[in-house]
Amino acid sequence: MTRVFDEDLAAGFGTRAIHAGQRPEPLAGAIMTPVYLTSTYVQEALGQNKGYEYARGKNPTREAFERNVAALEGGRHGFAFSSGMGCLDSIMKLFKAGDHIVCGENVYGGTFRLFDKILQHLGLSFSYVDSRDSQRVADAVTPLTRAVLVETPTNPLMRITDLAAVAEIAHRANALFVVDNTFASPYFQRPLEFGADIVYHSTTKYLNGHSDMVGGVAVVTDDRLAERLQFIHNAAGAVAGPFDAWLALRGTKTLHLRMRQHDTNGRQIATWLVERVGAENVYYIGLPTHPQHDLARRQMTGFGGMISVELGSRERAAHLLNRVRVFSLAESLGGVESLISQPAGMTHASVPPERRAALGITEGLIRLSCGVEDVGDLIADLEQAMQGMPGEGRGARGEGQGSRRARDTIGTARP
Ligand SMILES: Cc1ncc(COP(=O)(O)O)c(C=O)c1O
Repeated sequence: MTRVFDEDLAAGFGTRAIHAGQRPEPLAGAIMTPVYLTSTYVQEALGQNKGYEYARGKNPTREAFERNVAALEGGRHGFAFSSGMGCLDSIMKLFKAGDHIVCGENVYGGTFRLFDKILQHLGLSFSYVDSRDSQRVADAVTPLTRAVLVETPTNPLMRITDLAAVAEIAHRANALFVVDNTFASPYFQRPLEFGADIVYHSTTKYLNGHSDMVGGVAVVTDDRLAERLQFIHNAAGAVAGPFDAWLALRGTKTLHLRMRQHDTNGRQIATWLVERVGAENVYYIGLPTHPQHDLARRQMTGFGGMISVELGSRERAAHLLNRVRVFSLAESLGGVESLISQPAGMTHASVPPERRAALGITEGLIRLSCGVEDVGDLIADLEQAMQGMPGEGRGARGEGQGSRRARDTIGTARP
């Protein structure tokens, strides 16, 4: 089982990002962790080995990445998986038929699909609640509840769960508190510090940050829980391959730098969008107009680059999505490059339409993953793509004084 190097925990976040979990390689002293492309390890004699037997169980590249993320989250044990969904599926194997899970209602579409289309048929039951209101979480708990699972901020509606309050509710029920921290990254939010038992990520997103691999990672502090996860990790086998682990490990070295720039760009683009389409149509937790901004400030140290915008109709959304040139129309998020998508037809297509409508994931909602390009180019791109927007005046305010004012501030605003 991979355990952080305790001495790494004394360092600041940037130092951990670059060094935690990694020690010079013993053969030549390579400063970068090698990619251990091997399926098995030669044993010195029967029953004697260097601690490595077969690569599903352990791989040194994967271990370095697991230790690194565990240190970044402030936890003790990390487990790297082949995808975010593979990670969640393995976490859910901690439970058995008959167990009940309370789940935030606005989770990634694939999370809902896994629960609704697969795990429900294996005997787990789920209650979906608006976890912005901790009381609703408490009300959904039953004697069979074994876990409370939330995403915060949520994908794509940027809703926030009060981590400390929900941790207490879960623990009062002897249930595990599981948090998907993909949107915030450990640079801005560390759920274990608020009482979460398991924090997990799609490493495909901010942790890797370069859109060149798919992966997942879970971090826990409790040794017994880690032993159970370790068993599932090896027994179910959805482990990260060494090259993907290496790519993700290279990504985390710049996590702090990238997140600061995502945040700077996100704040400026959100401010511009407010002037362009109105605060009521812009979902960005860094805006003081976001209804949960104060809670976000209490449990996060920054807000990142994820913004959703209500444009009022599919036609208007398509107008913008089909005209962007610097933003790319694509699923996923968290890479250095800016992406734009329509959750209803893309990331959340697996959520039934009536459920999407009830949540507010409309056909006119678009999601921006603001990358780390020059923010002036990103805003100019949105500006040109919005020109001639059908029904101008219904949601968008048109190019007026507001957008000119926003453009004047580009490059000067600071978080
Ligand atoms: C918040 C969140 N969690 C989990 C996942 C699933 O991760 P993966 O695509 O790496 O399987 C995603 C994917 O978009 C996501 O956005």
